[in-house]
Amino acid sequence: MIRINENYTKLKSSYLFADIARRVGAYAAAHPGKPVIRLGIGDVTEPLPAACVEALHSAADEMSRRATFRGYGPEQGYPFLRELVAKADYADRGCAIEPDEVFVSDGAKCDCGNIQEIFAGDIRVAIPDPVYPVYVDTNVMAGRTGEAVDGRYEGILYLEATAANGYVPAVPDAPADLVYLCFPNNPTGAVATRAQLEQWVAYARRNRAVLLFDSAYEAYIRDPAVPHSIYEIEGARDVAIEFRSFSKTAGFTGTRCAYTVVPKALMAWDRAGRPHALHSLWNRRHTTKFNGVSYPVQRAAAAVYGEAGRGQVRALADFYLGNARLIRDAMAKLGLRCAGGENAPYIWVDVGRPSWDFFDLLLEKAQVVCTPGAGFGRCGEGHIRISAFNSRENVEEALARIASALR
Ligand SMILES: Cc1ncc(COP(=O)(O)O)c(C=O)c1O
Repeated sequence: MIRINENYTKLKSSYLFADIARRVGAYAAAHPGKPVIRLGIGDVTEPLPAACVEALHSAADEMSRRATFRGYGPEQGYPFLRELVAKADYADRGCAIEPDEVFVSDGAKCDCGNIQEIFAGDIRVAIPDPVYPVYVDTNVMAGRTGEAVDGRYEGILYLEATAANGYVPAVPDAPADLVYLCFPNNPTGAVATRAQLEQWVAYARRNRAVLLFDSAYEAYIRDPAVPHSIYEIEGARDVAIEFRSFSKTAGFTGTRCAYTVVPKALMAWDRAGRPHALHSLWNRRHTTKFNGVSYPVQRAAAAVYGEAGRGQVRALADFYLGNARLIRDAMAKLGLRCAGGENAPYIWVDVGRPSWDFFDLLLEKAQVVCTPGAGFGRCGEGHIRISAFNSRENVEEALARIASALR
């Protein structure tokens, strides 16, 4: 008799965005004359930068000619992209990352989700609350947790991000083996200072732990004092893996390209205490289970680093940050405290009441969709996430509607 992986049955039955879609669908069906504006799901709205489109077209032309056609490429990514990443995203910021430490993939979601399989099943995992749900759910699927009790899985060490700590979790007293960190943060939009990241690197070194540093929103950092990479912190090469994505940097959510950095110096240990390079394990996993990102998409990603591309992606992030500023200002005028939105495309609003209540209020009175904070974890209760990914027109209209709904 074929049996299932019963860890899947521990997952909370409904997925946050499915819940939202259901409520919005029911509202829209009952009120067909009232158009809804979605500031909920974190998908981009603006088209690909022109430099990326040009690169896609010319790579498609190459694929149409026998002399320049390409079949399978290297699973880890073409050298032209890995070299650009190592130079522009790391060497130019003073981080020593080699091109062969960069693994190109079709998304940071897959990488954040898959990385846990190179670690033992009985390690202690520390995960922020609130959090991008992928980190939690993939560890549940892998059997590293017990059941969910009051919205929290047994066995996970939760790192609380609250107004009291500026939404940046403090280093815990207890040891953990694998620590997920995300800055700029989804959902809170918080960024970590250099001093805070130094504490995390010291914690990992002390506990022989690994930090999984998700910097999918790195392109939104504008404060020059905020580190863009964990490798800007001394000693991080020995303890950290970093995830980046072109999704929010260059509008690649539908085009799909990302990368993961695994330094060769990074070790983890077997039961007998022998060290193993995680680079070798991830290389093995990646080459066994993944067959590379398509050539035209890697060419489009490489165009992000060209002269025209750099300006275009900067302008794209600036555009969304302009939306974020409008949202922050509007929330302040309504007397609602908020975090994020300055170095991140998300605004985390303290609404002072249950987050699903506020979600329903905005939907019914303003026809605006936000994301209830409770969906990101227990500490998200009392908050909503507003996304800056939308057209200026929609953001302005949504803010006007919210203002009159709450008046
Ligand atoms: C924190 C974080 N990491 C990773 C991802 C996924 O990125 P990708 O589109 O590269 O899979 C997202 C997407 O919303 C995210 O918010």
